[in-house]
Amino acid sequence: MTDPVIEGIELELLLQALQQRYGYDFRQYARASLLRRLRALAESSGKLRLSELIPLVLHEPAFLDQLINGISVSVTEPFRDPRTLRAIMDKAVPWLGSHPFLKIWIAGCSTGEEIYSLAILLEEAGLLARTQIYATDINTESMRKAKTGVYNLEAVKNAEDNYRLAGGRKQLSDYYVAQYRRAKFAARLFERVVVSQHNLATDAVFGAMQLILCRNVLIYFNRELQERAVDLFAESLVHRGYLALGLRESLRTLPTGLRFEEVDGASKLFRLR
Ligand SMILES: C[S@@+](CC[C@H](N)C(=O)[O-])C[C@H]1O[C@@H](n2cnc3c(N)ncnc32)[C@H](O)[C@@H]1O
Repeated sequence: MTDPVIEGIELELLLQALQQRYGYDFRQYARASLLRRLRALAESSGKLRLSELIPLVLHEPAFLDQLINGISVSVTEPFRDPRTLRAIMDKAVPWLGSHPFLKIWIAGCSTGEEIYSLAILLEEAGLLARTQIYATDINTESMRKAKTGVYNLEAVKNAEDNYRLAGGRKQLSDYYVAQYRRAKFAARLFERVVVSQHNLATDAVFGAMQLILCRNVLIYFNRELQERAVDLFAESLVHRGYLALGLRESLRTLPTGLRFEEVDGASKLFRLR
């Protein structure tokens, strides 16, 4: 087993190489999960040590996607954490509906199940036609999948209860076509969506949004990076805009969290003061 001090140096050098070569900055990600994922990537690439990944980062551009995929945790599901979606529908939609045009940012959209979930609920609330959804991530492979709208049929069927818990009023099956073991969501749900790459660690403010969802992303960041991201959200929201986080995420320990008030603590829905 590698000496943890030496492995720490290897990790620093690897992250520095990645940052200098491509501008991707993972130096402020929570260490334990980052180490676990990079060790697994090294092993699957037939390498004994993290430092052996450095030449791949420097000299093999094709390795970049593999590395980003290896580092980012893309686990997601349709209508994940339905109580947050429900809180958005109950508490934010009346205010959202008072705008002639809406801009919503889903930061860390992964493979896109969250996009379709929100689009369905917005359509049922009569808001989708006047909404622009910006969905961003750093993982290009996930983003490619998000654009297809095609998912495992079983996983989509299993989301029926959560759809209902999120406030859904129809049958989830009204929104997709089942083909063999896949479900393809209706194309109209995606008409108002733009998917693009945006890195919360390095990129800038994204525009005047009424609502931002960034769920189950901050949990992988250290405090400084969480602070940066939440600051970015505060700057990207219009006055009194809403922010939804993941159920295990909090603004409590962040100085910039003071810029938000809690709308529904248990559902992690906040509002810019
Ligand atoms: C666990 S998924 C969350 C997906 C979805 N929001 C949900 O709650 O199910 C975390 C996503 O955050 C993305 N991510 C990680 N670091 C990021 C960064 N610096 N900027 C933007 N997205 C990032 C990952 O690529 C991954 O797709």
